[in-house]
Amino acid sequence: MATHDLGVLPAFDLDIPTLLDISREGGIGGRTRRYEKFAGDMGGVYRDGDAWRADVEARGSDRLVYWVDDHRYQEGPGALVVGTSTLLPGRVGDEFAFTRGHLHEVADRAELYYCLKGRGVLLLETIDGRSEAIELSPGKAVDVPGHWIHRSVNVGDEPFVTLFCYAADAGQNYAIIGDANGMKSLVVTDGAGGWTTVPNSDHRGYRA
Ligand SMILES: [Fe+2]
Repeated sequence: MATHDLGVLPAFDLDIPTLLDISREGGIGGRTRRYEKFAGDMGGVYRDGDAWRADVEARGSDRLVYWVDDHRYQEGPGALVVGTSTLLPGRVGDEFAFTRGHLHEVADRAELYYCLKGRGVLLLETIDGRSEAIELSPGKAVDVPGHWIHRSVNVGDEPFVTLFCYAADAGQNYAIIGDANGMKSLVVTDGAGGWTTVPNSDHRGYRA
């Protein structure tokens, strides 16, 4: 799956306090990296592959679906990455638009997600089978402990923007979801303007 890395500045070591300019529309002043995901990058991640193909054929594979802006001025244990994630609204079949999701490579690393705009769900799962779906709206945050796989889902009709913060040495393991044939739960429309979760019958279980 392609990552479109539009790095703006090389990461460098800056050991002075830094004022960050966070946009509620998504984006951060002084970012060191942006990566973007397009509709065509999301093949195989939605359960309804036919709906994904039809969407890409109708609206193009080069349509931006989400992007992440990072501020990363230090490396190593103790340093933080701060940034924003902007996920556009939409559905593929019954599933609401989502980010790929990951477990941190250093699995015990926690993360904070604070909602700046929109209405979304943080879908959270553990390797041993626990699952949570927590709705976020502006002013709400989720403190994600280590060892939880996490994915943002946009269940509203405007961009879902979150501010995140995690340890700079955390890393991201995306393959754990692909190897399990998707997350255990799907966030889908409830048919009445809301959302609900249903089991993903294709899910094979996570392997540590
Ligand atoms: Fe993360």
